[in-house]
Amino acid sequence: MVDWALENVPVSSDPRILEIGSGNGTLLFALREAGYSPRYLSGVDYSSDAVKLARMVARTRNSEEVGFHVCDFLSELPPPASGRPDPLGGWDLLLDKGTYDAIALEKDASGGSPVTAYPMRASKLLREDGCFLITCKPQRDLVFLAHRCAQRAILQKRS
Ligand SMILES: C[S@@+](CC[C@H](N)C(=O)[O-])C[C@H]1O[C@@H](n2cnc3c(N)ncnc32)[C@H](O)[C@@H]1O
Repeated sequence: MVDWALENVPVSSDPRILEIGSGNGTLLFALREAGYSPRYLSGVDYSSDAVKLARMVARTRNSEEVGFHVCDFLSELPPPASGRPDPLGGWDLLLDKGTYDAIALEKDASGGSPVTAYPMRASKLLREDGCFLITCKPQRDLVFLAHRCAQRAILQKRS
């Protein structure tokens, strides 16, 4: 994912990057090491323990400017991207490594899948020419998002 980002969303463009379900922050720290500005890197996770851990790791890696926020991606808006005050439409790159698959396993109160809300929410956060990069099982719902991203989205198949 880091290699793809470097090739398609260059460091020199100062992209605002948000990871959906950032866990302990491994991917964001790898992007920081690859040269992306830490103040433009953010992660959201609905687990406060995960966010706490990611912030602890950030301290040990001199990466405290990387933002980690407790946020349920399906029902809350993440804080706006740095320098782009509108909470909607401010992100140049959205990343998902395993989160869509995790949400797809959940059931809501009516027995449906909460994941149906995901593509529209992701789409609203992206800038007009933004990119969405995901590692997941093949998902029909995400075709919508791929179109929204003008075919620039990559759906990577996980083994
Ligand atoms: C499979 S883990 C992947 C973590 C990280 N991306 C990685 O690769 O190490 C999925 C993560 O998504 C988070 N998550 C699941 N549903 C979420 C939601 N609705 N909003 C925010 N985070 C969510 C979980 O707490 C978990 O940290």
